[in-house]
Amino acid sequence: MCGIVACRTTDSAPEYLCEALEALEYRGYDSVGIAVQTVGGGALRLRSVHRVAELVERMADLPPRDLTGAGIGHTRWATHGGVSERNAHPHTDCTGSVHVVHNGIIENCEELRTTLVSAGHLFSSDVDSEVIAHLVEDELVRGVDLAAALGHTIELCEGSGAIVVMDSHSGRIVGASRHAPLVVAASPNGTFLASDISAFGPRVASFQVLRDGDVVELAVPVRWTGTNTDWPVAVAHTWAGTELDLHGYPDHMAKEIDEQPELAGRILDRVGADATNGALWRSLELPDFDRVAIVGCGTSLNAGGIVAAAFRRFGIMPAETVIASEAADAVLGPRTLVIAMSQSGETADILHALDGENFAHCQVLAITNNPHSSLARRANAIVECSAGHEIGVAATKTFVAQVLTGVAVAISALHELGRVNRSNTQSILDDLRRMPDLLAQSLTVAKDIVPPLAAELADSLGVIFLGRGAGVVYAAEGALKLKELTYRWAQHYPAGELKHGPLALVEEGTPVVIVDSGGARIAGNIAEVAARGARLITIGGAGSTIPALGRSLLAPVDNGFQPCGPLECVIPMQVLARELALVLGRDVDKPRNLAKSVTVE
Ligand code: M6R
Repeated sequence: MCGIVACRTTDSAPEYLCEALEALEYRGYDSVGIAVQTVGGGALRLRSVHRVAELVERMADLPPRDLTGAGIGHTRWATHGGVSERNAHPHTDCTGSVHVVHNGIIENCEELRTTLVSAGHLFSSDVDSEVIAHLVEDELVRGVDLAAALGHTIELCEGSGAIVVMDSHSGRIVGASRHAPLVVAASPNGTFLASDISAFGPRVASFQVLRDGDVVELAVPVRWTGTNTDWPVAVAHTWAGTELDLHGYPDHMAKEIDEQPELAGRILDRVGADATNGALWRSLELPDFDRVAIVGCGTSLNAGGIVAAAFRRFGIMPAETVIASEAADAVLGPRTLVIAMSQSGETADILHALDGENFAHCQVLAITNNPHSSLARRANAIVECSAGHEIGVAATKTFVAQVLTGVAVAISALHELGRVNRSNTQSILDDLRRMPDLLAQSLTVAKDIVPPLAAELADSLGVIFLGRGAGVVYAAEGALKLKELTYRWAQHYPAGELKHGPLALVEEGTPVVIVDSGGARIAGNIAEVAARGARLITIGGAGSTIPALGRSLLAPVDNGFQPCGPLECVIPMQVLARELALVLGRDVDKPRNLAKSVTVE
């Protein structure tokens, strides 16, 4: 989703801005732009509906200009106004000296725009963000200082968002945010603002996160104003360094799929033992609870479904998943533990849900891959997924990390609450410890069998995914992956529901992927679709189309229920979605219309 970068540096501003925007590309965007102050007090503004690389090429073709080290940049994910160069950021005021980049939605934009237009302001785009430039312009005309002008402007705009403003006359750059991520950092070579810390690369040793009410100016030292009376604490920034490196893989998704078995091993080494002796839960210092609500979106919500099942199955504890964007209606009883599941920790739907009055009495545990995120700051406790940076927009390794981490938390909490049969905890841990091998085996099978299958599906209009029990959530994840990567429809159903309507979809050749976690009932459902001529793809034990679940089916814990369900079945579905997407010529790392960090509701 939209990404903001800004700098006042002794180095080349365009170079920094483009590098930083490239580091934010993983968030997903459809246009890009920068504005850099010129020595004469004007600005060079360049915008494109293509990739950052195209902007870099265009810069190289321009006649040399005298530029200062002050500049701002933006990757846009369209909300208001179509994808066009005129709608790309930065936007300017009527004088052309106020330049604005913005991430978020201004809910009262129409009202503000009408007032500004009737006061004589001229607009040159369709986007809500442009009102900010004109509001700041009005403040400056009244003689208000730039930082205060931004402080007043953000108050006038309803909704959430982060804003950075550059005045090209002075080269001053100020930033502020409300319920949206914006971080600031300094190095010997300058000061920087960005939507997330990956934009800073190895330049900085620490950073500070802006809070609502802060206004920050890129100066040496960074200048803080606004309505807060203290400064946010500095957080150490450890640069992982090679995250964008493909290490010989054709794309990040391929690399991230391959990382899963090893990642599972690392997670279990870290939290496995603490899960079965209760130490993990105790370390969170959260109060006891009687029920669980897991809030999330998309893949994270699917991961939450597996974790909720573990609470129900092993602790006979009421546990449900709540779609974050629909959470306003959720009824959360007393002593409900809310688990907010989010890879990015910046998903606006989740942050908004937690602000609801119906959540006010609940303790919130965040399970996130980003310990510096807005969600991590909002939660009462956090557990990191530690999946490493995931660049592909389609979640793969973070899903596996969320499931394993979440199930470890569930088992640990239930152990502490005395709600799980303690003699069972060792077999649960043993089962979890088999996951890295099961994932590795599944990966080998998937890479061998899935590519030709995917090629066969190239002409299919869509795919049905089925499962029973824990397999239903995995079927949902398989369908989500296929949709987002191939742009073909994909629908999941509990296999038993098929005969109640969806079976009408099945005809000769309809592709049906079935998570076959065993048993007579799913066998019956397989027979039902086979009888109607479906193109069956079963993911199960020996004899299946993709025999990826073999060992997982051998020694189930607790009456056939594994703590994570048939987790390893997700790998063939990830591989299927990626392979089919490649056959169809899609960009598997950056699917159309989608963003990695979804910061609007
Ligand atoms: O950052 P989050 O985990 O909160 O994101 C939630 C969803 O937007 C995300 O899981 C999305 O569904 C994935 N791109 C799917 O692969």
